[in-house]
Amino acid sequence: MNTSTTSSPIPSGPNGHFLLGALPEYSRNPLEFMSKCARTYGDVVYLTGLIPSYLLNHPDFIEEMLVTQHQHLIKSQLGKITKPLLGNGLLLSEGDFWKQQRHLIQPAFHRSRIAAYAEVMIDYTQRMLNTWLPGEIRDIHHEMMNLTLMIAAKTFFGSEIESDVDVIDRAVKAMLEHFDRRSTNLLLFLLPDYVPTLGNLRFRHAIKQLDTVVYRLIQERRSSGKQTDDLLSMLLYLQAEDGTRMSDRQVRDEVNTFLLAGHETTALTLSWAWYLLSKHPEVEAKLLAELQTVLMGRSPSLSDLPRLRYTEWIILETMRLYPPVWAIPRTVAQDCEIAGYPIKAGHGLVASPWVVHRDPRWFSNPDQFNPDRWNNDFAKNLPTFAYFPFGGGSRICIGKAFAMMEACLLLAAIASTYRIRLVSQEAVKPWASLTLRPKQAIKVCLNRR
Ligand code: HEM
Repeated sequence: MNTSTTSSPIPSGPNGHFLLGALPEYSRNPLEFMSKCARTYGDVVYLTGLIPSYLLNHPDFIEEMLVTQHQHLIKSQLGKITKPLLGNGLLLSEGDFWKQQRHLIQPAFHRSRIAAYAEVMIDYTQRMLNTWLPGEIRDIHHEMMNLTLMIAAKTFFGSEIESDVDVIDRAVKAMLEHFDRRSTNLLLFLLPDYVPTLGNLRFRHAIKQLDTVVYRLIQERRSSGKQTDDLLSMLLYLQAEDGTRMSDRQVRDEVNTFLLAGHETTALTLSWAWYLLSKHPEVEAKLLAELQTVLMGRSPSLSDLPRLRYTEWIILETMRLYPPVWAIPRTVAQDCEIAGYPIKAGHGLVASPWVVHRDPRWFSNPDQFNPDRWNNDFAKNLPTFAYFPFGGGSRICIGKAFAMMEACLLLAAIASTYRIRLVSQEAVKPWASLTLRPKQAIKVCLNRR
């Protein structure tokens, strides 16, 4: 790959379909398509289509997109598919409103505030482990999704939620299916939400049910006046500088956003970690040695995390190879210049952690699962945006510390109790939907240590 030159006003890229541009080839296999584009055309690739877009493959250009030029950009229009569920929550809101909300909510995710959630994480992991039977075969991705959803529901809503988890689960799944259907089918993408297709009706029904639960919880909490440690309380009692509090509708949008953004991504990280560990027993052996030395047979707790360094490297290395958010898109709101090219309003930009995390300029033997590479000052010496599983700049993931704590604690707690082995050695392929999911179930055999 070569850094681009600015001799032409448009960088090179694949020719594509006369009308749809890169879309047909992209839709067939987005990961392969983007990697091939980067290999063939270099650090900036022009993708023709209904919305001409630029694929940015160099950390410096990604920094321009996420940091130095971000004021000219907005979130991608793809987000509109998720609007009925996420509304004006942090993930989709823009401008001064987003800034005010982010400023208000940020402290709720500070390390010191989320520390209390470590116990919930371990408690729910133990409950899951109590339901596992030695020798059983389970889909580990399904297990991780259930576990992180229970943890999210508990930490966001407190104790009242157990009986409502099914409704939340259905709404989140309906939303993910809705997104998959519409983002991979141009006709469905262009079709407005109010057209009563079966998919749209199902999606609306799931949102309605979730709204019933969320608004009830908001009402109950408001009328009880109880202030607890969970995120719902924090959202209800946060005050803007002018003394105003969030409306029920805004609390609902934020809560839905946390539910969606905050559980599937972590579940995917863990699912891919189990897959990689099962394929690399030498890494698993080192993990076990660390767990035995640090934990000496007991459950992990928050205070163990600084000493569970190898555990953390496994999570970092898993997210390098299988970044849950595999592409970060933006839409250009005002003409600007990125990577030396003039870029027009309305055009798209994409940075892909999947592509950049496998670039041999930053990671030697990039396809190899090697947690040891994170030893010493490896991360400090990387260009800032050579590794960006949580995005970056002002819109960096607000749940980064929460997710890292959860992933490390759960990995440590489960790995010290069970040996998890793939039932089949057949490769599990990643599927690039809204997030990077396993294409098929990850069937594993559970053996007690
Ligand atoms: C391994 C787990 C996670 C990964 C890989 C991840 C990744 C990301 C990425 C890449 C973004 C930036 C998207 C963009 O710039 O367009 C983001 C934003 C966001 N994430 Fe996460 N995330 C994870 C866990 C969480 C958790 C646990 C929560 C909440 C509890 C959360 C809540 C959010 C929110 C609200 C945003 C939007 C922030 C804003 O725009 O101000 N995420 N996440």
